Amino acid sequence: MIYFDNAATGGRKPDCVVSAVSSAAKLCANPGRSGHKLSLACASAVLDCRNALSEYFGGYGFERTIFTKNCTEALNIAIFGLLSPGDHVVTTCMEHNSVLRPLEFLKKSGVITYDVCPLTNGNVSPEEIAKRIKPQTKLVAVTSASNVTGAVPPLAEIRKALPARVLFLADGAQGGGHIPIDMAETGIDALALAGHKGLLGIQGSGALLFSERVSPRPLLFGGTGSESFSLDMPDFYPDALEAGTLSFPAVSSLLEGVRYLFGKSREISGSLLFLTQYLIEAVSALPDWKVYSRPNPCGIVAFAHREIQSELVAERLSEEFSVAVRGGLHCAPLMHEALGTRENGLVRASFSHFNRREEADVLIRALRSF
Ligand code: ALA
Repeated sequence: MIYFDNAATGGRKPDCVVSAVSSAAKLCANPGRSGHKLSLACASAVLDCRNALSEYFGGYGFERTIFTKNCTEALNIAIFGLLSPGDHVVTTCMEHNSVLRPLEFLKKSGVITYDVCPLTNGNVSPEEIAKRIKPQTKLVAVTSASNVTGAVPPLAEIRKALPARVLFLADGAQGGGHIPIDMAETGIDALALAGHKGLLGIQGSGALLFSERVSPRPLLFGGTGSESFSLDMPDFYPDALEAGTLSFPAVSSLLEGVRYLFGKSREISGSLLFLTQYLIEAVSALPDWKVYSRPNPCGIVAFAHREIQSELVAERLSEEFSVAVRGGLHCAPLMHEALGTRENGLVRASFSHFNRREEADVLIRALRSF
């Protein structure tokens, strides 16, 4: 099968990631719970991963790098853990449901209000976001890349357009590992990450990195291996936000994924820019197809047939041509609304740097036959 669904989950992992997971699956202890040598070795690898992520994303050290099972959990911790009654939030129509649904829940519960910034020329503009700031605005939540089109919002310019008191949350699900993100330099207060996409780890890995300006409250309560006599959660990080046993195979995969990315990021984004440009040019030349993406380092190309439902296109590509893409709506309802693709959805091909131009040619030939 030709796998072009890497924005949903990275299909192929580097060998170093596969070896780390396989060795963790053969034998691993509970990091941070026991004092024996194997537990300590696992705890030390977990610490290495916190430090590697913090370094890679210009974060705030290992204490402020916590592991989650996915980006959704990281976003929920940031949103529920930072907002209080009366707060106002500004977000954008490019967001995924992992941002929109928690905000909508808090709004319907009478806790917060929020405003949504519209699409300007396929992206979100700092001015449009800044316009929506109110005295009670506590948080601005913006994706690092649209999971639908691959458009990359200008995070640094957005931060510059915001008052210093406003907290800035970035959803790194699609941008993490693909675009350079430096939290300290940009002024990002919280960065939520999926481990299993651009960061090349396995499913079940994710992280939340946060600055010294924020103190997220826990969403989950339980054992942490620290202050065990206390009935309260520890008041220090990372323990305060990590109740329950971490997935050591997932953390090991993430550590190897991030190590692989150091030094390779430029090459990877170059290859994704090339592949997206190549596919966009070819599909734009086909009479019955419309392209919704511009070349991007996230590897995403969204397109639609003039008449055929996107799910049917995806199904035929899979069944007849053995090409895996995602069709339909991509859990970003306001983006589909803004693009006018609510009814038919979009076909999304999403590349990884393991993909080759010849594979894109197979997809292009298949699209010609529709
Ligand atoms: N959010 C993921 C996607 O865009 C699952 O496919």
